[in-house]
Amino acid sequence: MTTASLSGRKVLLIVGGGIAAYKALEVVRLLRKAGAEVMSVLTAAGAEFVTPMSLAALTGRPVRQDLFMPEDETAMGHIELSRWADLVVVAPATAGLIAKAANGFADDLASTTLLATDKRVLLAPAMNVRMWLHPAVQANVERLKGFDGFHGVAVVGPDEGEMACGEFGPGRMAEPPAIMEAIAALLAGPDGRPLAGRRAVVTAGPTFEPIDPVRGLTNRSSGKQGYAIAQALADLGARVTLISGPVALSAPIGVDRVPVETAREMKAAVEAALPADIAVMSAAVADWRVDGVASGKLKKAPGGPPSLALIENPDILASVSAPGKSRPKLVIGFAAETSDLEANARAKLSRKGCDWIVGNDVSDDVFGADGNTVTLFTRDAGDESWPRQSKTEVARKLAARIADHFKA
Ligand code: CTP
Repeated sequence: MTTASLSGRKVLLIVGGGIAAYKALEVVRLLRKAGAEVMSVLTAAGAEFVTPMSLAALTGRPVRQDLFMPEDETAMGHIELSRWADLVVVAPATAGLIAKAANGFADDLASTTLLATDKRVLLAPAMNVRMWLHPAVQANVERLKGFDGFHGVAVVGPDEGEMACGEFGPGRMAEPPAIMEAIAALLAGPDGRPLAGRRAVVTAGPTFEPIDPVRGLTNRSSGKQGYAIAQALADLGARVTLISGPVALSAPIGVDRVPVETAREMKAAVEAALPADIAVMSAAVADWRVDGVASGKLKKAPGGPPSLALIENPDILASVSAPGKSRPKLVIGFAAETSDLEANARAKLSRKGCDWIVGNDVSDDVFGADGNTVTLFTRDAGDESWPRQSKTEVARKLAARIADHFKA
């Protein structure tokens, strides 16, 4: 990836307090050389290592240092600042800044900006080797990387080597050219947005089928995998409509979310979102709904519990897959199975008429978990088993496979 693609891109650089802060100045120089606009936030600790004057001179803009500066806030408030950028880079990302970001602290301009941004964040950690290897720091970094349904934090480095403190090991901030590579990859131009101009519809979460005004039938789907897929497709440039059953997740950045409850509402919302190039039906749609939903709360009665008559819900995946002019070019279903994954997934592929099935074994802890082990079954090519990885990684891999499919 060349850094030529940075022309006109906007980078907000947060400079934390560490000896590596001097390398942040070189990152600014390289960014400007590549045509990017740079605004900087210098933390109080950062200002112990580099001066605001150096940053202002190199960025060609005033440096922001304080959350409570009326003149700064009237020029561009901290929320605007966090939105102005196409990408937020934290270099050096100290253990303190990482801990604040991972735990939602907002007690200064840097941490508030990190919490308020709707853009991707790149961290370039720099700290003593013992600090970097401390489980608390590692857990915070993993936490930031793994926020599902969130736009996700990318990390570059740290490198291994001799440290300013005389110790040796991982903890040195990545070198400016490596940070530039990571920035360029995250801000990739049209090449990095291979699904630009494509429309995708994604279903996610469970459906809820009422029994009476207070009770209903539902299932244990968390929606995490579907939300991550919606995010990954949007990251590659697709215009995504996410039709979501009731879940406790916030809408992915840049995705249009349509909340629904029942299978029939989900089907109507999917139809309204067509035409689309891509359909990914990851929702755990309830197979049945109650026939004759009670208008008032069902009460206990001497005759014993009521019997519920169930009727079958429409199969959304099968109807989207049916040949017709609004059929998306690529229709992907899911098969959550507790046994005979391959046989069941292949049977679903032909029964429903979709192009690919993402099969997963739900006999272990998939529901609500952050990890997932899946096999991709395709109609024309063979199967692909992916190792257990986070739902975010599964989503990114699936989105990349979808992009390849359209390229071919
Ligand atoms: N699906 C759907 N509409 C339904 C049922 C399922 O769109 N009414 C979709 C799911 O979103 C998923 C795929 O079909 O992509 C497979 O769902 P699953 O529940 O595994 O399939 P079923 O057809 O319900 O098969 P079974 O429950 O018998 O395994």
